[in-house]
Amino acid sequence: MKIDEIKQCFVEKFGGEGDIRTYFAPGRVNLIGEHTDYNAGHVFPCALTIGTYLVARKRTDRKLRFYSMNFEKVGVIESSLEHLAAGSEKNWTAYPKGMMWTFQEKGYPVKEGYDMVLFGNIPNGSGLSSSASVELATGVMLRDMMGIAEDKITMIDLALFGQFSENHYNGVNCGIMDQFAIAMGRKDQAIFLDTSDLSYQYAPVKLKDARIVIACSNKKRGLGDSKYNERRSECETALAELQKVKDIAGLGELTIEEFEEIKDAIKDPVRMKRARHAVYENQRTIQAVAALEKDDITTFGQLMNDSHVSLRDDYEVTGIELDTLVEAAWNAQGVIGSRMTGAGFGGCTVSIVKNDAIDNFIETVGAAYKDKIGYAADFYVVDIGDGAGVLK
Ligand code: GLA
Repeated sequence: MKIDEIKQCFVEKFGGEGDIRTYFAPGRVNLIGEHTDYNAGHVFPCALTIGTYLVARKRTDRKLRFYSMNFEKVGVIESSLEHLAAGSEKNWTAYPKGMMWTFQEKGYPVKEGYDMVLFGNIPNGSGLSSSASVELATGVMLRDMMGIAEDKITMIDLALFGQFSENHYNGVNCGIMDQFAIAMGRKDQAIFLDTSDLSYQYAPVKLKDARIVIACSNKKRGLGDSKYNERRSECETALAELQKVKDIAGLGELTIEEFEEIKDAIKDPVRMKRARHAVYENQRTIQAVAALEKDDITTFGQLMNDSHVSLRDDYEVTGIELDTLVEAAWNAQGVIGSRMTGAGFGGCTVSIVKNDAIDNFIETVGAAYKDKIGYAADFYVVDIGDGAGVLK
C-alpha cells in the first residue's frame, strides 16, 4: 500500500479540503528481555519498518470520524469527544480514543474532533504491537495538530501516555516496552532500556551475514483476554514476599546470586518460577547486549534460546504453537537463535537466521508448523526502522 492510496482513501471518505496531514508509527519486535518491563528489569526491543499510517484532519466541531482500511467492512465509525469513556470501547477505536482521553487526563484537553483514516501493515493480533503503534500514531498526530512543542510533550512522554491509555482506558496492565520502542526507535539500532528508571542506550544490531526473521503463529491473542495480568500480579506477590527479607523495589534489582539466596521467602512454587524467570531473564538481557557489543552473535543467539526455555518452563507463556515454531527453528540450518517475542500465548517468534539459510528456514519451519498445528504460519524478514513521527 502506498501513502498516496491512503490519502486517496481519506479524500473518498471525508473529502479533500483543508489541512490534511500524514503520520507513521512502527510496530516493534523485542530481541530479548521478556516480561521484565513490569519487573524493573531491562528490555532490548527495536522498531520495525512496518507499522501504522494515519491520515488526519482537524474538525471545527467535537465529532470524531474513524475509518480503518484494515476493517473495510466495519466502515466509518462516528463518535465524539463527549464520549470518551474508559473501558467502554468495543472496537479498534479504543486505541485512538484512549490517547485523546489521556491527553485530556494529562492536562492537554482535546478541544476539536478529527477525521482519521488508518492503514496498518503489521499483522493484526500478532504480538508486534499493532495497538501501541496506533496509540503512538495518534499521539504524534495530536501533538502536531494541537501545536504542542516537542519539548513540552517529548517522545518519551508520548510513550508514557500510550502506556497510561493502555492501562487505564483499555484495562491492560502492560509495561512501557512497546510504547517506548515505537516512540524512540532508530534505524538499525535496538534500544537497551532499563525500565526501572527509563534510562536507555541505542545499540547497533550488526548481524553480519544474518537477518531477523519473524514467524507469526496466526494464533490470535489479545492481552486483555490472556493471562498477562495474572502473570503480572504473580510477580507482584513474589516481590512483596522477597521485600520481607530484602530491601528491593523490583525483581530486576536482584542478581542471580542474590535471588538464589533469598528465594525461599516466596511461599508458592509457581510464584517462585515466575520470579526466577524475571530475575534470570533480566540478567540474560544485560549479558546479551554485552555480547552484541563484542560482535559475539553466537552468545547472543544462545541467550535468545535460553530465554525461550525460561518463558516456556518457568513463566509458562509459550504454548504449543510458539514452542513448535521455536523447536523447528532450533533444528533448522543457519539459525543463530530463536525465541518467542512479546507477551506470548500466541503471536510471534523472532529468529536470527543466516542469509543463505532463510529460504530453507521458511520452508522447513513452515512445513513443521503446518504439519503439527494444522494451519500455516507467516514469515517476515524484517528491518529495524525509526520511531513514530510526522510524514513529510
Ligand atoms: C507485552 C506488553 C509489554 C511487555 C511484553 C512482555 O508486549 O505490552 O509491556 O510486558 O508483553 O515482555
